[in-house]
Amino acid sequence: MSKRRILVTSALPYANGELHLGYMLETIQTDIWVRFQKMMGNECHYVCADDAHGTPIMLKANEMGIEPETLIEQVKIRHQADLDDFHIDFSQYHSTHSEENREISELIYNRLNDSGYIKKRVISQAFDPEKEMFLPDRYIKGECPKCGADDQYGDNCEVCGATYSTTEIKNARSVISGAAPIEKDSEHYFFDLPQFEKELKNWTKAGHLQEQVSNKLAEWFEQGLQQWDISRDSPYFGFKIPGTEDKYFYVWLDAPIGYMASFKKLCDNSELNFDEFFNKGSDAELYHFIGKDIVYFHALFWPATLMGSDFRTPNAVFAHGFLSVNGQKMSKSRGTFIKARTYLDNLDPEYLRYYYASKLTAKIDDIDLNLEDFKQRVNSDLVGKVVNIASRSASFVVKKYDKELSSDCVDKDLYKEFVETGSDIAKHYEARNFNQAMRLIMKLADKANQYIDEKKPWQLAKVEGSEREVHEITSLAINLFKVLMTYLKPVLPEMAKRSEEFLNIESLAWPDIETPLTSHKINNFKPLMTRIEDDQIDQMVESSRV
Ligand code: MSP
Ligand code: ZN
Repeated sequence: MSKRRILVTSALPYANGELHLGYMLETIQTDIWVRFQKMMGNECHYVCADDAHGTPIMLKANEMGIEPETLIEQVKIRHQADLDDFHIDFSQYHSTHSEENREISELIYNRLNDSGYIKKRVISQAFDPEKEMFLPDRYIKGECPKCGADDQYGDNCEVCGATYSTTEIKNARSVISGAAPIEKDSEHYFFDLPQFEKELKNWTKAGHLQEQVSNKLAEWFEQGLQQWDISRDSPYFGFKIPGTEDKYFYVWLDAPIGYMASFKKLCDNSELNFDEFFNKGSDAELYHFIGKDIVYFHALFWPATLMGSDFRTPNAVFAHGFLSVNGQKMSKSRGTFIKARTYLDNLDPEYLRYYYASKLTAKIDDIDLNLEDFKQRVNSDLVGKVVNIASRSASFVVKKYDKELSSDCVDKDLYKEFVETGSDIAKHYEARNFNQAMRLIMKLADKANQYIDEKKPWQLAKVEGSEREVHEITSLAINLFKVLMTYLKPVLPEMAKRSEEFLNIESLAWPDIETPLTSHKINNFKPLMTRIEDDQIDQMVESSRV
């Protein structure tokens, strides 16, 4: 098969808060897929960025008494450190508040405008007369018009579940200043989504989306597409709309363009050619990994934006479900709203990478991180099964055979079975059914352990004249371990590195599994992974509780 050229993205996290284990589900899923593609010999680039614009970021900076530019710089440093420590291997991590993004956003807007896809009209909205700014719904609170409960958000009541418009709410007040909002007119710019209805309907049915997502879209089409408000009035932290003095692009307009901007930055510092990936008719593949809450933006607005500005559209949008912890929504009071950094302070990132892999499918069902199950699964699969194969065999080879593996591979059928399962494992990785890939790998790990249990090299070693057999059994076990670690490398890159060091090889490469290592010197065995202890988890939960 010829080498594929692939560009992959994860959704851009907002630059006003710390990363949590929900976002890590997304980047770990993406990173595993990217690492797998690279192991298959494909050219694969993975870009992301901080999503730096919008009202919440502006207000947070105000509150802290700093410029938004300062806030987003500081947050970006922490985001990147977290992602790096989870071994998320980006080709480029950028910011939507960048020159590249400004240029491409203006280019796209101008093309849309020239083609008649931008419409202007005056709308009336809630306005904070003290703070002198328009108020998004979430910045208005008041009494529910249905049940009278106080302190309810602008568009829905948490007490009785009613939904309403912000104008219906009683005794409304601005969350920012406390002032009663007034209605104020202003001209807004709209992206004329309905003009793309036919093209979008075709696109959403053409195999670019998961079935559950296409079904959702069919519902949205039935409700009818609306023009999309892409402008915001000053004060706003974002890019000014070309040809205006005080209108800004709504954060969601330039956020997905941030994917392109991040890739542009990568191209500018390398031999890569931006146009080859983004021009219409490109044969490069483009995939976006996202959470299910932002499907509307990625499966409707984004492809339409690209269609209207003469760029290629994505090959697929891959949505995943939401993370819950111990069966419930992440909660600060239960200590289950776990920040990436809090996790890292207590536990090895590869535990979580493996646990997520063992649960991730190509569907958008939610995924639960049950902390007890997490501990058991990691300890039993990785430490109890995989590492065990190497640790119980290594000492023989090291001590008795001068670290050298046998010159022949005894049980050729067993080895062959390990190699042949690789094509199914690869299929599952490709299809994002990581849970199935992990299941097959652990089944093989069980087989390897059974083999050692049956052959009992520790007993055989006491029998005179069986040196050669013991050598061959333990050497085969180490070769089986090598195949398993090759399969696990996209999930456990650091444990794979330690295994490469132990096996004394350059790199665990997928094509190399065909041939076992024979008459090859290995290194001393050092623990490849340690067990999770209860107090590590307790400590993490305790530190997360507020
Ligand atoms: N900034 C936008 C995305 C712009 S992409 C052009 C955004 N940011 S976010 O920080 O709220 O979310 C980033 C990603 O994390 C989204 O894909 C979102 O679905 C995902 N997740 C946020 N919380 C999550 C869970 N609890 N579980 C799984 N994914 C979660 O939306
Ligand atoms: Zn109510």
